[in-house]
Amino acid sequence: MAKVKVEFACTACGTTSPKWVGKCPGCGEWNTFVEEVSAAQPRQRGGLPDFPASKPVPLAEVSDTAAVRTTCGIAEFDRVTGGGVVSAAADLLGGDPGIGKSTILLQAARGLARQGKPVLYVSGEESEAQVKLRASRLGVADGGIYLMSETSLERILSAAGELSPAVMVVDSIQTVFSSDLPGAPGSVGQVRECAARLVFFGKKAGISVFLVGHVTKEGAIAGPRVLEHIVDTVLYFEGEKGHPYRILKAVKNRFGSTNEIGVFEMRAEGLTEVADPSGMFLSERSGDTSGTLVFPAIEGTRPLLVEIQALVSHSFLPMPRRTALGVDFNRVILMCAILERKAGVGLHDQDVFVNVAGGIRIDEPAADLALCCALAGSFRDRVVPPGTAVFGEVGLGGEVRAVPMAEMRLNEAAKMGFSRVVLPASNAERLGAKFPVELQPVRHVKEALSRAGGK
Ligand SMILES: Nc1ncnc2c1ncn2[C@@H]1O[C@H](COP(=O)(O)OP(=O)(O)OP(=O)(O)O)[C@@H](O)[C@H]1O
Ligand SMILES: [Mg+2]
Repeated sequence: MAKVKVEFACTACGTTSPKWVGKCPGCGEWNTFVEEVSAAQPRQRGGLPDFPASKPVPLAEVSDTAAVRTTCGIAEFDRVTGGGVVSAAADLLGGDPGIGKSTILLQAARGLARQGKPVLYVSGEESEAQVKLRASRLGVADGGIYLMSETSLERILSAAGELSPAVMVVDSIQTVFSSDLPGAPGSVGQVRECAARLVFFGKKAGISVFLVGHVTKEGAIAGPRVLEHIVDTVLYFEGEKGHPYRILKAVKNRFGSTNEIGVFEMRAEGLTEVADPSGMFLSERSGDTSGTLVFPAIEGTRPLLVEIQALVSHSFLPMPRRTALGVDFNRVILMCAILERKAGVGLHDQDVFVNVAGGIRIDEPAADLALCCALAGSFRDRVVPPGTAVFGEVGLGGEVRAVPMAEMRLNEAAKMGFSRVVLPASNAERLGAKFPVELQPVRHVKEALSRAGGK
């Protein structure tokens, strides 16, 4: 009988230790170590089909047809994956419970099946009948989709070997277990090894594998972080509680950009694409509130108008509060300091709250100027004239610096009916074409406040 040994493993990074430790030496996280039971015998790759051993191949002779992309017909999904599902690639989809992971993968499966790519949908959480119920609600009744309710890795691999689908979905990886390994399903060792075997199997058999991963309350994909290393693409599906909007984004993509986002709306008939996210993010905007401003952001290759909201109010605390939702906290602090020193907006005794409406996150420095204008607008209680959008980076001296893709931002603002745009003077000088919006070039944050500050 195999000797069984008890060890401890970090749920965040997978580091193991023969005894329990409070702080993980690998990632520095506290209280992440859990008990793992592992076999003290050499690991067997049980259940894997017998593949021929790999041999070195000259680069020029490697056929590049091996990495074919198949679009699933959902434009927002295809954009995030970098132009379609890559054959034999492994993708990990993470997201909060009930956000719609199973829904989007079932809808993507329909698109792939329609392209003649058979899909094996393995659910470890729901029975075939439950998946079928969802499929009926979504109107997915296409041939080429095979359902299997299974949690045993060996049985999943043998079914996939027999069926040889083009794509396999495993929903979720935390429910899969291998009888070769001790430990309960969902434990660090099981999740890591089962994911590695599924990815290995997919690569060798030419099957694209989608793994669904649960997200911990801290927001990381539950199970060892190594899961993110062994897959080719890591996608996150996010959304605000109570909002029907969902955002799909790639945080890692070996075959494409990680800047793209896909926007969906959750409806009874499933997730529908939001082709005009700018309209969606601005739909509830009321133009007569001080401290709110529209910023033309760039997400990947697409422009997106978002509303930046600031609330500045007198603080009764010894250390005034600073809260940032949807923008980098440090940038908010930086902008507060610049406003104080370079534009005479005294925020040192004020509580400052910043939010980006719609639950989206903005990481560009191009949002600096909009942030400054929103903060100053709230402090002075001035409403920005309607139809005004603002973008530009702000340096520590208060100078307004050029940002990339100014034309794209201006076109989007014009398309959405904006008539005035406050932008860096250096961007305005370089613009080639005429734009159907009034340009307000500025060189200093003070100048921007007087142009966008309103009454
Ligand atoms: N009849 C319905 N009408 C509208 N929305 C629905 C309906 N049924 C389900 N939903 C939506 O679908 C969501 C569940 O989707 P789904 O099962 O794909 O999520 P999930 O991320 O796979 O969840 P889990 O983590 O539990 O597996 C619900 O939270 C709800 O928003
Ligand atoms: Mg699910």
